[in-house]
Amino acid sequence: MFKLDFVNKYLANYTIPIIISIIFSLLAVVFSVLTFSTVYPFLQLIFDNTKIVDKAVPFTLSKDALENNLHFLFSEIIRLQGKSKALLYISLSAMLLYFFKNLLSYLSFYILAPVRNGILYNIRNDIYHKLLILPISFYRFHKKGDIISRATNDAQELDESILKPFQAIFIQAVTIIFYLTALFLINYKLTVFVMILLPIGAFIISRISKILKKTANKLQSKQGALLSIIEETISGLRIIKAYNAIDFSNEKFKKNNEIFTKIKNIIYRRTDLASPMSEVLGTIIFISTFLYGGSLIISNESTLDGASFFLYLALFINIINPSKTLTTAFYQIQKGKASIERIKYIFEAKEVIEESPEAIHIKSFNEGISFRNLSFSYETSKYVLKNINLDIAKGKSIAIVGPSGAGKSTLVDLIPRFYDATEGNILIDNIPINQIGIDSLRALTGIVSQETILFNDTIFNNIAFGNENVSMESVIDAAKIANAHDFIIQMENGYNSIIGDSGSLLSGGQRQRLNIARAVLKNPPILILDEATSALDTESERLVQDAIDKVMKGRTTIAIAHRLSTIYNMDEIIVLNNGIIEERGNHQTLISKDGLYKKLHDLQSFR
Ligand SMILES: Nc1ncnc2c1ncn2[C@@H]1O[C@H](COP(=O)(O)OP(=O)(O)O)[C@@H](O)[C@H]1O
Ligand SMILES: [Mg+2]
Repeated sequence: MFKLDFVNKYLANYTIPIIISIIFSLLAVVFSVLTFSTVYPFLQLIFDNTKIVDKAVPFTLSKDALENNLHFLFSEIIRLQGKSKALLYISLSAMLLYFFKNLLSYLSFYILAPVRNGILYNIRNDIYHKLLILPISFYRFHKKGDIISRATNDAQELDESILKPFQAIFIQAVTIIFYLTALFLINYKLTVFVMILLPIGAFIISRISKILKKTANKLQSKQGALLSIIEETISGLRIIKAYNAIDFSNEKFKKNNEIFTKIKNIIYRRTDLASPMSEVLGTIIFISTFLYGGSLIISNESTLDGASFFLYLALFINIINPSKTLTTAFYQIQKGKASIERIKYIFEAKEVIEESPEAIHIKSFNEGISFRNLSFSYETSKYVLKNINLDIAKGKSIAIVGPSGAGKSTLVDLIPRFYDATEGNILIDNIPINQIGIDSLRALTGIVSQETILFNDTIFNNIAFGNENVSMESVIDAAKIANAHDFIIQMENGYNSIIGDSGSLLSGGQRQRLNIARAVLKNPPILILDEATSALDTESERLVQDAIDKVMKGRTTIAIAHRLSTIYNMDEIIVLNNGIIEERGNHQTLISKDGLYKKLHDLQSFR
């Protein structure tokens, strides 16, 4: 029941406030029991003169001594002040006790508020951090919406269905224990009877609540699916409209929403069952106790008299409500456990690209990059790259060409370790890259690819991205090299213009030049270009290509080229086909070879 997995780790940070809060709730329960136990003996005295006591006995913890002395105290009050004054006093003191009881339980909640929120704060931070370090491959198998849902909805559910009920469970359990003790003092026989019945009821309820977890799990994943659809809709709205797919998307959403709603109905019906179930069980237990206690009185078998039996039942009723809250809380926790599992899934996802503890943190790039017998597959048996051997000396530029799907992007993605080689190795300055600190490895490379990754922020922040303390001059210099400065200063707010989601307020060529400016500012010794101009029209391509030519100066460049005309001057051209290096050489030698390169070249010349 209380196996809360990773949540325990977070709870541990808050041991002291939790203990203080527990003390406050304990005191609150003491006060509530006190209220009853002061009113009752007094009522006995007021309505039954025979109970008046005129002598105190030495203080002991026995029931008789306590009762005697309480009665003595109240008898004195009645004797000195008269019955009606005494009644007033006792009512006021009961009120005061009850006030304190509520004040204390409020304090206990007051202290727990920052605990609950603090735990959530830490969990959310940790999920986000984990999302940042998870490998790119993790996101291939998961819908964005589902991951967002785990980081937000499930964290919220954890609060509602674990932390909050947990608090309730504790307070109610203590309340029940205190009342049971009081009941025990009044009549142990009857209480033993009750204590046999209670666990049976608890068992029945826990059996039924188990089913809830599975349904809750379904519910949370459906919620993730809904978020995914919304997320995809917003990013794909142009296509949805262009293909007249509004109705289609609408239906798809409705269908998922319908399933979600149906599961939610089941969940509501099951959780709502907790309250009447515990009430029925409570009543059964109450009536049984009533029957048994009544028969004890009738048969005169026990010391139980009518008045104490009445008090007994009055106290007993006070157990019913906490038991109800307790069962509801157990139900809630089952529901919350589904969310725990979904969050745990992210926490336990393998990072795959791990930094070796002995990693070398290199500061510079001096010799070159080498691929040694490198093969790679994306977790299937099919190899995307096969036995690649390639040396790129510092300062050289190489081009990779080949048909679409040949493995070109995969090859360059292996350099910054977006994926790790399946077999073989990549070495930088003769050090295998999996022995280089990941940060220092990635600091060496700048990437400009076909998809322009921009954030909904200012132009300045998009260029300076990830670097703090960047001066305006250096951003402007980078933008000038990237042929971006001119269009930036024509915008209303210049470098402070917001560029929209994924840079949607800019043209494709402008977006690409911002990407290049970002790479220029980073000033990496190794530049990776993955079809950087292929998505552009001729005019933007010319501006971008010109920017690229400037950026390549003095750097080691690996360029995947879409248009072969841009790579005629490269030091070496690698022709990749089906994951194999089929040809290599410079433009002239490859043309004269009359192989795949010549074929690709001729295809383009006709356009
Ligand atoms: N993330 C991925 N998961 C699984 N297979 C992939 C992934 N990316 C690419 N592939 C497959 O690997 C092969 C090479 O892809 P890629 O390197 O992108 O080729 P290129 O850049 O030369 O067009 C293709 O068959 C492609 O379907
Ligand atoms: Mg590609």
